[in-house]
Order: sequence, then structure tokens, then C-alpha cells
Amino acid sequence: MSIDDHPLIAAPNGARHAALAALAATGPVHWVPLPLETHVWLITGFDEARAALVDDRLVKAGADATPALRSLRPEVATGLHYHMLVKNPPDHTRLRKLVSTAFTRSRVEAMEPKIRRICDGLVGGLVERLNRGESVDALAVFAYPLPLGVICELLGIADTDEDRMRVWSRALLADGTIPVEEFVRSNEELLVFLREQVAQKRRAPGEDLLTALTQARDGDDRLTEDELTSMAALLVLAGHETTMNQLANALLALLTHPGQWAKLCAEPALADEAFEEALRFDSATQVSIPAVTVAEMDIAGTVIPPGELVMVSLPGANRDPKRFPDPGTYDLARAGETHMAFGHGIHHCLGMPLARLEGRIALRALAEAVPDLELAVPAGGLRRAPSLLINGLEALPVRRSGARPETGWAEG
Ligand code: HEM
Repeated sequence: MSIDDHPLIAAPNGARHAALAALAATGPVHWVPLPLETHVWLITGFDEARAALVDDRLVKAGADATPALRSLRPEVATGLHYHMLVKNPPDHTRLRKLVSTAFTRSRVEAMEPKIRRICDGLVGGLVERLNRGESVDALAVFAYPLPLGVICELLGIADTDEDRMRVWSRALLADGTIPVEEFVRSNEELLVFLREQVAQKRRAPGEDLLTALTQARDGDDRLTEDELTSMAALLVLAGHETTMNQLANALLALLTHPGQWAKLCAEPALADEAFEEALRFDSATQVSIPAVTVAEMDIAGTVIPPGELVMVSLPGANRDPKRFPDPGTYDLARAGETHMAFGHGIHHCLGMPLARLEGRIALRALAEAVPDLELAVPAGGLRRAPSLLINGLEALPVRRSGARPETGWAEG
């Protein structure tokens, strides 16, 4: 298996889905090599994936699952990576309960006007540039700042430095695919930043989620300092990287299926369906967090010994032809069928209602403002960003149809 046909790493647009489809055609479970001399058992079948995510013979591998994570100083690892996503019951149950007392449905619903405000500002800026005939990277100027702005607003992080955050989150999610020193440096800087944010909330509490997390109680129980910074890191990263890439993947799906884009533009209330089908069609979260077998497992005839790393391929499960006929076609009429883009079982995405709200608002706003939007380069020329965890684009250049190609395209 070469880098360019690796189902988790291939960079040319379309290559990962093609590699996954080729793999999935041979069965639902696969031994796949990873960078840094390791490997994983990858589950691509929908039914097998759902069963694995609730099987207690598979336990989350913890905060030191990969060689890159093991290269961190212990206090950095505990300060950033000891969050619920890598924990098992009863620790996971405890953390999820504490966080859920602060990250409530009403807190998400209260975000709606703020999301609209952030979105309208970004769409305004995008349209202005498109109207000048520019080709613009919709990932950099829209899909990235929208969820980052939203999660920072939710957490009460005022002094967001978009460029630094971009470097940190890219490095953290590129685990295994960038030089280890870069990974270590970004982890250390992000931890210093988050410790300062938590300290500020203690000095001057606000109405925000980070303050609520510092105050969250379950009886006598509360989050420790490491749990707080780890939780903040999880929320900042999970809160914007996944959503940003899912928004860009959704826009790409729409622009490469002009009939579906026209449908959405004619009826913008279909934005919910458009986002939901994009979650299935081009899932931004590429794998569930690694888990380890604590006993031998036989999955559809493949025997996995104890002590092995296992991941579920969410794009694989979401394109299982046994579950979704003609899975490589993006079709709004399909939305409503259960997909696995938000995971399954006890680690099922905590931010799902917020992500759906952002997706709906964003796609609706774009369809209303620029129905003549189109890709500024052939879809085959796009590239996927390096990351084992995320299935996202490097850039998504768009323009208004009829925009003069000689105006070139600007980076961000
Ligand atoms: C379209 C956007 C999103 C996608 C596709 C997504 C996907 C996922 C997936 C697949 C998981 C489970 C991973 C596993 O089982 O290993 C997960 C967990 C999680 N997500 Fe999301 N997510 C999104 C947005 C968000 C947002 C906006 C937030 C927070 C503001 C968030 C917070 C979390 C948290 C805290 C967990 C861990 C839950 C646990 O371990 O119990 N996510 N997400």
C-alpha cells in the first residue's frame, strides 16, 4: 500500500474514498499499516462498526496510543489529552456527566443568533471578494473562521489568535504525519494558552462554557486542573476542526453535484438535509479514536488477537453499499437515514446539536447569498490535508460562475 492509495492518508482528492472502497470490497475488517511503524485494524462495514463501538472487549487506548503522543512530556500529555474521548467507564462516565451539566441543550440553542451574526459577517466578506471577480479559498475565509469563532464565543475565549490556533490544531491532528518536534511544540504552546484561559475565568468568571466548566459540580465531584485544560482542548479542537472540514466537504459535495446545489438554492430550508447527507457522503471524522482489544475478537471471520489497535472508519461505514445503495452519490433525498458520522455508543459526539446548527445556518446562508457559486479549479485537482483523524481538504477555491479566470485566486 503506497501513500497515494492509503485509505487514511492519500492526499489527491477522491483517492481516500477510492482506496476505502477497494478495501471494503474485500471485507469489513482490514490490517492497515500506519506511519511511524505501527498498524491498525480498520473496520469499514457499517454493521460491524456499530457493533464494535459498543463492544466492551474494545477499550480506548488512552492518551499515549501513538508514538507521537508518547513523545510528549507527561505533564503536557495529562494537561491536553486526558479527556473523555480517550477514557473508559467509569472515568468516561464521570467526565461526560460533569461536562454535560455545563454543555447543555439550552446553552447550544442560545448560540443561534450569535452563529448567525458570525456567519453573516463571513458571508458578507466572501461575497465582497467574489463580486470583485476573485477566486477565494472558502475553507480559509468561511469554513474555518465560522466554527472557530463559534466555539471561542461559546467557551468565552476572547483573544482568539486564528493563525496560532490553526498551527496548533493542524499539528495536533496531524499526529504521526508531521515531524515529532513540531507536534511537541504545538502541544506545549496550546497548553500554556489554555492554562491562561482557565486562570482568567477564575479571576473574572463570565456566562461562558469555560467558566461553567470551572464551576461544574456533581455532588462533591469536580474537574481537576488537568481535566479542565484537557476538556478545553477537546472542545476547541473537536469544536472547530471537525465542523470546519465537514462544512467544506459539504460545500464540495454540493458544488460537484450541481443538481443538488440547485435544489438547495431553490429551497434553502433544505440546508438540514444537505448537511446531513454530507455527513454521510464525505465524513470529516475519518476514524474513531483508537481502541485496544482486551480479548480476542472475531469480527466477521477476521480474528484480532488481544493487545491490537482497532479503529472504525466512519467514511467507510457511511459508504457501506449494504447499508446505503449507490453510496458514492450525494443525494439530499437520502438524508434521515442513520449514519455514523458522529460516532456511536458512549463516545457519541457531545457537540452534535451544535455542529448541526452551524451546518444548517452556514449552508443556508451560502445558498441564499451566492447561488451562482462554483469550484474555481477542477475537483480532481483538490488535495486532502495530512491527518489520520480528519478527512478534510487543503483548500476549497470557489468563484462566482462567469468570474474571469485571469483574475487568479487568492489564498485566504
Ligand atoms: C460536524 C462536526 C462534528 C463531527 C463530524 C464530530 C464527530 C465526532 C465523532 C465521530 C466522535 C466520536 C469519536 C469516537 O468514538 O472515537 C465525537 C466525539 C466528540 N465530539 Fe464531535 N464532532 C463534530 C462536532 C463537534 C463539536 C462542535 C463539538 C463541541 C463543541 C464536539 C465535541 C465532541 C466531544 C466532546 C466528543 C467526545 C464524546 C465522548 O467521548 O463521550 N464535536 N465527535
